[in-house]
Amino acid sequence: MSPEFTATVATSPKSAPIQADPSADPARFAGDALVLFLGPGEVSGAAAELDQATGGLITTLIENGDLTGKRYECVPLLAPPGLACGQLLVIGTGPAAEADAGLLYRAAAVASRQLSSRPRSRVGFLAEGRWTNDQLEQAVAGAAVGMVGQDIYRAEKKQHPFPATVWLGAAVEVVTRGALIADGVNLARRLVNLPPDDLYPETFAEEAATIAGRVGLEIEIWDQPRLEREGCRAMLAVAKGSSRSPRLVVLRYRGPGQQSDRPDLALVGKGVTFDSGGLSLKPSDGMLAMKCDMSGAAAALGAIATIAALKLPVDVVAAVGLVENMNGAAAYKLGDVVTARSGTTIEIHNTDAEGRVVLADVLDVVADLQPRRIVDVATLTGACMVALGRDIAGVFTNDQACCDAVVAAAEAVGERVWQLPMDRDFDEQIESPVADIKNVGEGRLGGAITAAKLLERFVRGIPWTHIDIAGPAFADKPRPWIAGGGTGSMVRPFVELARRTQHAQD
Ligand code: BES
Ligand code: ZN
Ligand code: ZN
Repeated sequence: MSPEFTATVATSPKSAPIQADPSADPARFAGDALVLFLGPGEVSGAAAELDQATGGLITTLIENGDLTGKRYECVPLLAPPGLACGQLLVIGTGPAAEADAGLLYRAAAVASRQLSSRPRSRVGFLAEGRWTNDQLEQAVAGAAVGMVGQDIYRAEKKQHPFPATVWLGAAVEVVTRGALIADGVNLARRLVNLPPDDLYPETFAEEAATIAGRVGLEIEIWDQPRLEREGCRAMLAVAKGSSRSPRLVVLRYRGPGQQSDRPDLALVGKGVTFDSGGLSLKPSDGMLAMKCDMSGAAAALGAIATIAALKLPVDVVAAVGLVENMNGAAAYKLGDVVTARSGTTIEIHNTDAEGRVVLADVLDVVADLQPRRIVDVATLTGACMVALGRDIAGVFTNDQACCDAVVAAAEAVGERVWQLPMDRDFDEQIESPVADIKNVGEGRLGGAITAAKLLERFVRGIPWTHIDIAGPAFADKPRPWIAGGGTGSMVRPFVELARRTQHAQD
């Protein structure tokens, strides 16, 4: 391999080097494994080269029906004749016409997940010449996400990230971008996977400060006294039942040559580091996964870190509200009326509907900066999972153009979102006889929408989209392309959205 064609990327100290080798000969790649992506009936490009080098092995297997190329099919060919690698792993990608960027992200992750089940020293991936740069970038990201598991605290690891990954036939810049995207996704996943007694508002804020230092972001951390001075009494109310004090973290990225003081994009995240439900206590079964209730904050942090590492020409702010929702002696109560920073009073009808109460203040803080768009992301409601299932996030908006941009960015990277309506009658449901609003609707029906309606009250008419990731943020069970636990949902869409956002002067 010629060193001048090799880029090594490691933005986080733990991320393993990922390299590009644009002119490598796949047959001579001497690593532990080489991954070949294959669709049905396609023996062209890299596949044709390898077929020839192996004396027709691939075509024979296809004829025998052992290699079909269907989506996520995983066929390891050990000690392949004529090749220098230890194994050739063939991953099915389905018909070429259906291969979007999301499919390649997952297909590459399937390969990495499979190979990382035991330690490897060097793994190669074959980039296909017909892929677009976007597809290749997502495949690189998927490969780096798939090798990382949720076994942070296991002595005997279930997954072993490769110390070295090489993308054969790929351009250095594209591989670098893919690796930086994976760093953001894996950062978000790690934060979600950390246990709540290790990751709480203060330690999340410390993590954010570390990342900010590494990628060069401005950071402001508001501790409890500052939150009191700022009048963030909604956030503070939620935090009252916990021995852990809350934090609000604001991160600011200004792209090269940015002069305007108005952010082009604000990312806002729900950072409930553990949601017991408070006095409206959750049943034990539903509580186990509630370390994931800071997934929105993790996504906002992961995304802005990658946006900064990519040096995108935009001005982005990320703000996260970090609290633990507990039922200690000082816990906020049903019937309490809290005055949010905006002055709006909220009557508490259920202490488990805490995310919207926290976000009320974070959105107000962000609105002070007058961003052109606000996108918030939150594991907000079980109702959204009832509506859309585990894999699809709900989106809600006060501005269709803003929402369309979010939806297009998510689709471009293969994350599923679906817009839900914001009809006026849902506003009536959050009216309260004693305060300006109450924190739940009438009964359970349309619960994801009433939650969004509450948030809308705090964005001061700025174009805004809310994303409810209660379903996709956390996987109870492993999937072929990802271990169980945090998924890093919305990091890639946010990076894509920032990339599509034009910086506006004035
Ligand atoms: N954090 C939960 C929502 C959630 C549920 C996230 C399942 C991930 C998986 C949220 O704070 C909550 O408890 N919402 C309540 C609202 C209700 C009390 C109006 C819910 O969805 O049940
Ligand atoms: Zn809750
Ligand atoms: Zn919650």
